[in-house]
Amino acid sequence: MLKESCVLEEISSSLDTSIPHISIILAAGHGKRLRSHLPKMLYEIWGVPTVVRVSRAVREGFATPNEIVVVGIKWKEVAHTLGKSPHRVFVFQKEQKGTGDAVKIALRAIPEDFTGNIYILPGDMGLIDARILQEFREAFEKSASQMFILTGEYEGDPGKNYYGRVVKKEGEVLGIVEYRDILSLSKPLTIGNHTFTARELLNIREFNAGVYAFDHAQLRESIRKIKPDNVQKEYYLTDLVKIFRLQGLRVGARKVKNSSFLLGFNDRIVLKQMNNIARKNVYDKLKQIVTFEDPDDFFIAEEVVEKIMEMGGKEPVDITIGQGAYIGRGVKLSPQVVIGKNVRLEGNVTLQEKVKIGDEVRMSSFAHQEIRIGRNTEIFWGDVIKGNVTIGENCRIESWVRITGSDEYPVKIGRKVLIKGNSYIFGCVIESEAEIEHSVLNRKKIKSLRDGKGNVKRIKYVLPPPEGEEAMEDLP
Ligand code: UD1
Ligand code: CA
Repeated sequence: MLKESCVLEEISSSLDTSIPHISIILAAGHGKRLRSHLPKMLYEIWGVPTVVRVSRAVREGFATPNEIVVVGIKWKEVAHTLGKSPHRVFVFQKEQKGTGDAVKIALRAIPEDFTGNIYILPGDMGLIDARILQEFREAFEKSASQMFILTGEYEGDPGKNYYGRVVKKEGEVLGIVEYRDILSLSKPLTIGNHTFTARELLNIREFNAGVYAFDHAQLRESIRKIKPDNVQKEYYLTDLVKIFRLQGLRVGARKVKNSSFLLGFNDRIVLKQMNNIARKNVYDKLKQIVTFEDPDDFFIAEEVVEKIMEMGGKEPVDITIGQGAYIGRGVKLSPQVVIGKNVRLEGNVTLQEKVKIGDEVRMSSFAHQEIRIGRNTEIFWGDVIKGNVTIGENCRIESWVRITGSDEYPVKIGRKVLIKGNSYIFGCVIESEAEIEHSVLNRKKIKSLRDGKGNVKRIKYVLPPPEGEEAMEDLP
């Protein structure tokens, strides 16, 4: 275990200070309320760990690869997931003494004479998108402010609003007051020349999202002045609003219209809610070109969503997705593909035009393997296809068939092949137009058989010779 807060040299790269922006991701929290071994930042939202999502959005939105990630006791797991990357620096915060303390530690990794801007955000903001961050950065750059905060509008019951309240008068940000500190007020609170009752503060709907922009020099100068004088005895980064204003510096704010993008989570209920929002966002992107049997029950990895959108820009898509279907990244869909209920596709799976996948089908391959299903082919109910498998056009693979191709023995099936239900195929090469009925075929090459009249003759019950008979005896 590391004893002191420090820069984690072995997993860090160096910052490129010729680029005038540096981001700081606060990810030291381990998520006590989740009661789990998995660090909070590694919980997945729509199939991607939260902190990875945040990092992607940050790099794009803040237009910089310079990224300092503040990690805590679970630093190994978080660093392993994000990985070593150019201009990414990990700093270790030994104790969680507050957001102000976390940023103070991050600043140790930045040269004192750096003249650019610093952007800060929490690592659990899994729905944040690059566009919101970009607009925030541009608004800050255009402003005459030395500090900028991103805010949202809270829409529920004020008693359940645990965000920091953004206190404004005549459009000016006076301060940010934490929920718990409002609850502990014994008399009205004075900020600058204004006084607010606890009730007034609680009812403020504009909340602090936890995303900030700073002029580096001012941040470095002012952060020393934060004191842990609050109910949590923490160093609050939010105190910088007051500290900046006392020095006559300007603090600006930008409000996001749809505050669901700003959600972070401390418990599984909000995590679930965030996944539902992610699903809704995918549904909204695709609903014009894809038919969903159940908009509340499906998964399509983001990479696949992007490809479907590109496809939609060029040609009619007409894809149908069954209830409960799971389409992992690496899957390639084509126009007019129909996917049944509870289908699960994982790995490099390519479905050509008009392929029909029946309910409950499973297809999976490892990263170096590939499954390809040709145009117009139908895969019936309950089939399981695994490994290296190529199936040509216009085939019918009927119900409960299992097909497995290994690296050494890939399965290759030609055009117009019929495989009747309950067959088991391993490592076979099957010629076009062959027909197979209820067979167990292990590493065979199969030709299409014809009778005298030129009709296809079906292959039946080709069982492999039994092995291991010596281990069996009849029960009395
Ligand atoms: C903070 C803000 C609050 C805002 C809210 C938005 C402060 C004092 N309050 O409150 O105004 O509405 O975020 O979500 O900043 N972290 C560290 N090290 C620490 C403490 C926190 O890395 O010592 C990280 C956490 O992992 C988390 C982020 O900072 O990602 C925010 O910390 P958290 O404790 O959740 O702050 P809130 O109480 O939610
Ligand atoms: Ca939080």
